[in-house]
Amino acid sequence: IDALGVAVPSTCVRLEDLAVARNVEPSKFLLGLGTRMMGVALPDEDTVTLAARAAREALQSAGVGGDEVGLLAVGTETAVDHSKPVASYVQGLVGIGSNCRVFETKHACYGGTAALQLALDWIRSGSARGRKALVVCSDIARYGLGTPGEPTQGAGAVAILISEAPRLVALEAGVSGIYSQDVHDFWRPLYSKDALVDGHYSVKCYLEALEGAFLNYRALVGETPPEGSFFSDRFAALAYHVPYGKLARKGHQRLRELDGDPTPDTSFARLVEPGLVLPSLVGNIYTGSLNLSLTSLLACHPGSLEGQRVGLFSYGSGSCAEFFGGTVQPGAHARVRALGLMERLEARQVLEVPEYEAIMRARESIDERPAGADQTTGAFGYLGVEQERRTYARGGAA
Ligand code: CAA
Repeated sequence: IDALGVAVPSTCVRLEDLAVARNVEPSKFLLGLGTRMMGVALPDEDTVTLAARAAREALQSAGVGGDEVGLLAVGTETAVDHSKPVASYVQGLVGIGSNCRVFETKHACYGGTAALQLALDWIRSGSARGRKALVVCSDIARYGLGTPGEPTQGAGAVAILISEAPRLVALEAGVSGIYSQDVHDFWRPLYSKDALVDGHYSVKCYLEALEGAFLNYRALVGETPPEGSFFSDRFAALAYHVPYGKLARKGHQRLRELDGDPTPDTSFARLVEPGLVLPSLVGNIYTGSLNLSLTSLLACHPGSLEGQRVGLFSYGSGSCAEFFGGTVQPGAHARVRALGLMERLEARQVLEVPEYEAIMRARESIDERPAGADQTTGAFGYLGVEQERRTYARGGAA
């Protein structure tokens, strides 16, 4: 991973306000789920606008031009078209050259990881011939007003620039623990804008998949930990897929139990908590969630992870999961902190619950909204549909 770019909506809702509006104890959302705020995409934002903003930031942060990218993939479960990939819109908006393989990947929240692994293999095989891969994970997580999933919504994109000489994290080649099965824990039928979920079953599936992927990884690595430590102590930090922070905590407990740790929660603050700072302020961003947690580790860790190994767990309902790792490179913390993510999150406009509800209703019809019906100010803002084609602003503020 040579560079990261992150895009989040400029508006959000405080979960304590949502709890009051839904007649729920605020501590259920804040502590029971472990989320403080969720991003709310405005009607001029969609998967394309978020992906394009994140992609532009990753390229700028690396000082890489659009014609140096030979593979552009967008992982999403909030596609805007049955045929035309989000990646093609991003190619046009950001200015990626034409000698580039461009496509979209889907497998719920795992779709971005599928693209990442494919891009890594493309680079490692030599087919890239020095060119970079740009993988963007972009989603709007939406369960509907008043549903149990409502406090686990969010929106955002994380772009990952992959190169042969990575300046952030060098991912381990050839050792990746995988676990997949055919389950119906979370899905979104073609006719619905809202995801459907068997909530408690989905938690069970996540934990089972974590167990399967981690055990597979442990067997592939085949290392015996030094006396008095556990296998997962080979990592200085862990980033999990974070639909909500509490599930990352449960996952970490399960992982340490598998390692034989008699007090499986005691390492949570040290290994996992710094990776939950950004997710707790943004909510679930589906494909980008694991990468937001990794970004959080690099931006918010109180010490230094440079020269040390981090473990990464990706989960997509349906399901496919992968556990892999990498080594943080010298200078990585400073490069990610330079993105100013905390400052951007603090500058967001906090919406009242009725304002958020109105935006949620307005999104119902955004795919049919005629171009020009609304003004847009954001970078690459969605303008509406003209002659059956989605249109976007080319410029605009970041
Ligand atoms: N103070 C503190 N904690 C409280 C509390 C209070 N007043 N009231 C309840 N809690 C705790 C509960 O004890 C529970 O904690 P534990 O899990 O540790 O027992 C927690 O708050 C949540 O309470 P419930 O289980 O009663 O909550 P719920 O049934 O209303 O919904 C949910 C929880 C099932 C996660 C629901 O939000 C949901 O369906 N979310 C969407 C699905 C999801 O995120 N699944 C994750 C796995 S699937 C995946 O990973 C892919 C993906 O991204 C979607």
